[in-house]
Amino acid sequence: MEALKGLEAVAEAELREVPSVRGGGLLASGGVKFQFAPDPLAQRAEGQGDWDRLSRLRGAVAIYRVETWDVPRPKALLGHQVLGEVLDYLRSVVQMGGHGSFRLSAAGKDSETFTRLTEEIEAQLELPHHPEEGELLIRVRQSEQGEGWEILARITPRPLSARAWRTCNMSGGLNATIAYAMHKLSGVRERDRVFNPMCGSGTLLIERSLLGPLDALVGVDISPEAVACSRSNIASARRQIEVAQIDALNTGLPDRSFDLIITDLPWGDAVGTHGGNSELYPLFLQEMDRLSARTGRLCILTHEIKLFERVLTEQSRWHAKELFQVYSGGHYPKCYLLSK
Ligand SMILES: C[S@@+](CC[C@H](N)C(=O)[O-])C[C@H]1O[C@@H](n2cnc3c(N)ncnc32)[C@H](O)[C@@H]1O
Repeated sequence: MEALKGLEAVAEAELREVPSVRGGGLLASGGVKFQFAPDPLAQRAEGQGDWDRLSRLRGAVAIYRVETWDVPRPKALLGHQVLGEVLDYLRSVVQMGGHGSFRLSAAGKDSETFTRLTEEIEAQLELPHHPEEGELLIRVRQSEQGEGWEILARITPRPLSARAWRTCNMSGGLNATIAYAMHKLSGVRERDRVFNPMCGSGTLLIERSLLGPLDALVGVDISPEAVACSRSNIASARRQIEVAQIDALNTGLPDRSFDLIITDLPWGDAVGTHGGNSELYPLFLQEMDRLSARTGRLCILTHEIKLFERVLTEQSRWHAKELFQVYSGGHYPKCYLLSK
């Protein structure tokens, strides 16, 4: 299992809910290696099993099937018998995942050995090779645990973070895996009235609604394009969520309307400016204090860490706990959970 750096524990907790997961341990690469019993590949063949569940995990970036060959160098993977095993193994993953193309990721992937391996996979599996966009991502690397070389094959054609519901993308759109983690760590409660100010493309709204029932779910954004974008994603996710084009600082909503307010504030690059944020952040905390219940929670993700932490010290209504810091698309934002 590959997780975003900083969200390994959230991803692992979700994976452990899959019944056939056994054992498991963190690898030096940051991935987590699990055993499955019984093997979900075999189970799917019998028309039941956990493969579908693994393909729908929301907290991980990707799940790979891993096989190790006790060979001293990659060239030995091209030996007649080993190559046959490698191809059978890759074929079994394609049969389950329905991948339409492949790509190879390995140190020295342009070498003669990997060029030959690529040609063999293309010919024997009858899969086109797409070096950039290939759906079956095949990683070849030296085994982290002991001798040999291992081949990882991603079980899904796309990363798990690329949600099927996303028909509209926006600059500054939140990675859905991070949205999932924000909800899991803020608490998912049936009685919650949830507000997502500055909802952008609707990631936090949709991910919450997929996590189970709740009392109310409302999103607002000041930009008409963002509202249209979130509505289009909500429709393709087949959800019913109210979204309005309103300034989050002037919603006109009554006091104490929400139990959980959750948002990724503008970070000052793709969306907003640093100058604008120094005005926005304190006003936002003040207005969310008005809109949230006495026992309300406020979950905020931001890349403007210094600014946000300064603003926190300049007010006394909210107390913040750091939930995680995550590596995402060249940024390293932090997520905080605030209570009164
Ligand atoms: C970082 S983006 C949110 C991304 C969103 N979570 C997503 O997944 O697409 C911030 C959003 O805040 C909106 N915004 C900025 N100032 C606002 C305000 N005063 N009221 C409402 N929305 C605002 C922007 O239009 C933008 O869509």
